[in-house]
Amino acid sequence: MSDTILVIGACGQIGTELTLQLRKKYGKDAVIASDIREGNEELMHSGKFEFLDATDKNAIETIIDKYQINQVYLMAAMLSVVAEKFPDKAWNLNMNSLFNVLNLAKEKKIEKVFWPSSIAVFGNSTPKNKTPQETITEPSTVYGISKISGERWCAYYHDKFGVDVKSVRYPGIISWKANPGGGTTDYAVEIFYEALKNHHYNCFLSENTRLPMMYIDDAIKATIDLMEKDRLPQFTSYNIAATDFTPKEIASAIKKEITDFTIDYKPDFRQEIADSWPNSIDDTKARTHWNWKPDFNLQKMTLEMLTNLKLKFDREVQNLDV
Ligand code: SER
Repeated sequence: MSDTILVIGACGQIGTELTLQLRKKYGKDAVIASDIREGNEELMHSGKFEFLDATDKNAIETIIDKYQINQVYLMAAMLSVVAEKFPDKAWNLNMNSLFNVLNLAKEKKIEKVFWPSSIAVFGNSTPKNKTPQETITEPSTVYGISKISGERWCAYYHDKFGVDVKSVRYPGIISWKANPGGGTTDYAVEIFYEALKNHHYNCFLSENTRLPMMYIDDAIKATIDLMEKDRLPQFTSYNIAATDFTPKEIASAIKKEITDFTIDYKPDFRQEIADSWPNSIDDTKARTHWNWKPDFNLQKMTLEMLTNLKLKFDREVQNLDV
């Protein structure tokens, strides 16, 4: 039987491009997008869409039955900054959506699950440089606590109930099609918008805050490649790395292209979150287990972001003129 895929949280930063890529790969009828809100035009017009609250198990089950879904990518989550403001809502969304999907897999309603974890599983006691796959995970954020708990639940369902669930720990993701929502690493997206529009950016992190980062194309490649692998003997939420940089370094990469670009640093409460996360990630296990390899470094990503955002802004102006 061919696969039919449900993406939950399809209108978010990663969900949008994941859905588009899955549709390109498997055909538009094989990939159902779902979210609690509508997404951008390209997403909404590229295939079927269902409104869905990820905390409602019955609603998920209805869609699974309707389309005979056998794979779920669960991309709905509340990210680090917003989760600090609404801890109970974040716990409810991040954990109950996962239980819903894991239980549907346990009940054999679906065969395969993808669930993303994050570098937020690490905390102040974790080694900061080239953070290993297996190390101390004592997160200090609401988001990080939900992600490390989720990892343990995935391992539990994998081992006890034979659920085929796969996962990676995403670093900060940089993209231009859909906006990120409420993360600490969002500065590395905002900076491109501000550079093009105002030639200036007020950064909410200090200049030397190094964080692991990845261009969206690499994140999507990692996600789909891992899902296409056979069942793994052991559940692992894989460390994946592409690049790491500081606000100062990304600012100078942008300055090479926009020579009058300037940046100011005004660290706020998000600095503390960033300071608790790694500077860089060791992803040897992902590289050896399933041949993970990124394509984008800081320079290539910068060019890609500026080129695509310029085209996007031009299209927006043209649409306004019509
Ligand atoms: N990008 C996420 C955040 O900043 C980290 O996984 O919350």
